[in-house]
Amino acid sequence: MAEVSRAEPNWSKLRSWVGRNPDNPGLSAACHSLAEKRQSHSANALRTRRSICLVWCSHSCTSRSHAQREKMANIRSIKGMVGLVTGGASGLGKATVERLVSQGASAVILDLPSSDGLSVAKSLGDRCAFAPADVTSEADVRSAVALAREKFGRLDLAVNCAGIAVAVKTYNFKKDVPHSLEDFTRVLTVNAAGTFNVIRLAVGEMGKNEPNADGHRGCIINTASVAAFDGQVGQVAYSASKGAIVGMTLPIARDLAPMGIRVVTIAPGLFSTPLLAGLPEKVQSFLARQVPFPSRLGDPTEYAHLVTSLAENPMINGEVIRLDGALRMQP
Ligand SMILES: NC(=O)c1ccc[n+]([C@@H]2O[C@H](COP(=O)([O-])OP(=O)(O)OC[C@H]3O[C@@H](n4cnc5c(N)ncnc54)[C@H](O)[C@@H]3O)[C@@H](O)[C@H]2O)c1
Repeated sequence: MAEVSRAEPNWSKLRSWVGRNPDNPGLSAACHSLAEKRQSHSANALRTRRSICLVWCSHSCTSRSHAQREKMANIRSIKGMVGLVTGGASGLGKATVERLVSQGASAVILDLPSSDGLSVAKSLGDRCAFAPADVTSEADVRSAVALAREKFGRLDLAVNCAGIAVAVKTYNFKKDVPHSLEDFTRVLTVNAAGTFNVIRLAVGEMGKNEPNADGHRGCIINTASVAAFDGQVGQVAYSASKGAIVGMTLPIARDLAPMGIRVVTIAPGLFSTPLLAGLPEKVQSFLARQVPFPSRLGDPTEYAHLVTSLAENPMINGEVIRLDGALRMQP
């Protein structure tokens, strides 16, 4: 105790600074530096000072209302935004559309004409519309972007969820057959070129938005996969396509930075979408056990939650985020 009191900085002076200048951002730093200057004293005393310092810093930080601070940082609520979600009729895309609408945004579902897009859009009401389209078609994607403008007046967010996969080895030595080049090209065309097609056409519309105080006009969120990093046997085409999405993230973010349009990619692990839900129970629980924590398949709502967080947070850009419960896929 004696040591703590010997080590005390001038708390009353600090307290009066905090009281007089609750909004001074330098105060936190001042608190820390005063506490850190006494590092020669015992570890216990230092820990005590740090806790007091943290309490004071948080006092200083919370004295300005949460809403005011978010406004200063240009954190914008998803409410009122207009999003275009490819693959929005199923799985991760559908969960994203549902979250956008439930949070007060509007959404255009871009999905194949054969998908459930129309019924999903109808079930979500007036703030949702369906654009039957193929992500690889310039004309289709242009129409979907135009629908966002016509129906909801603008486009703030494009989320690329449309994707396909094949499971084929590079060479089948038993049958003496190489991987089909057509299959490889198709997966790359839909996943990588389709994603790029949507980005290049969506940003043309976002560029028309009035920038906010940060100069921010819009946001692109892509979907890669952990297979971009830990591709398994039989995933050559899929991994290559997802690796391409990872690779395009930073250069596109740099290309679009002058227009205030951000680009972020999510690399999901194993999620319980129709793709995986169709697998036998035994296989699903085997897959779930591979995830360190939480040891289960991800829920699509957890993906959708990250999408809206990324759309709202202006500081994240040019980054790929794994959403996988620390999963590292085995060969
Ligand atoms: N589910 C997972 O565990 C998981 C893991 C990692 C990555 N991903 C990726 O997330 C994305 C969504 O996966 P999901 O599990 O929700 O799949 P899903 O099959 O449930 O949904 C994919 C949607 O994309 C649509 N689509 C396919 N090709 C299209 C095209 N050419 N044009 C327009 N729409 C097209 C489909 O109609 C479907 O509605 C995919 O890119 C997938 O690779 C999924």
